[in-house]
Amino acid sequence: MNPSDRIFVALDTPDLDKALALAEGLRGLVGGVKLGKEFFTAQGPAGVNAVSALGVAVFLDLKFHDVPATVARAVRAALPLKPYMLDVHASGGEEMMRAAVDAVQESSPKPDSRRPLMLAVTVLTSLGDDDLFAAGVVDGAEEQVLRLARMAKKSGLDGVVCSALEAETLRAAMGPDFKLVTPGIRPAWAIADDQKRITAPADALAKGADYLVIGRPVTGADDPADAARRIADEIG
Ligand code: C5P
Repeated sequence: MNPSDRIFVALDTPDLDKALALAEGLRGLVGGVKLGKEFFTAQGPAGVNAVSALGVAVFLDLKFHDVPATVARAVRAALPLKPYMLDVHASGGEEMMRAAVDAVQESSPKPDSRRPLMLAVTVLTSLGDDDLFAAGVVDGAEEQVLRLARMAKKSGLDGVVCSALEAETLRAAMGPDFKLVTPGIRPAWAIADDQKRITAPADALAKGADYLVIGRPVTGADDPADAARRIADEIG
């Protein structure tokens, strides 16, 4: 894998033309793009297919969280979109996560390169210890992230979405093959935006991240392709 294949650019827009222009400009320069709820709610499966049709891998970040049967059906419905990665919330529980993995495996019984990576979101980084405590989670975010990551691995998921600041701990605890996908990445030359706890691209990889989700430093740049090239050079 080229170092640049580890970069997934978050196209956080509801606008199809904007997403297509960015994806086309970034094709071949990065591993793929991340499409989330904002884009999917506005543009639906047709929008995802239009981006994929450019030959760009898609991380379909819809963070499913529901009863197991519903999540399994949602995953089955997502598979024709051929995402490179898709995700659920680990807090949906082990049975829900297993249902998601089973749905992926049914579609392609043997592991192969076309089977999407199934990831779990652990604790949203917008939640602090106080928020977790208010919801009855008494251990704090760090412990909860580790607990949910272990549940995800036990349920057969391929990896988790986590803060780069947690990558080192998770890499040590979860072994070498469990995928760690990290947002909150900022190259030295980019502004932090609303990200409070940020990590440089090369540091995140050194701490054990497999894929870097990077949004505004690329999408907000005057020349997104150039920004992507600079990040690739930085990690290459
Ligand atoms: O623009 P920026 O690089 O901050 O975008 C990062 C992307 O990753 C956004 O889509 C954001 O919603 C998402 N994300 C995040 N922090 C998390 C989880 C997801 O920034 N903990």
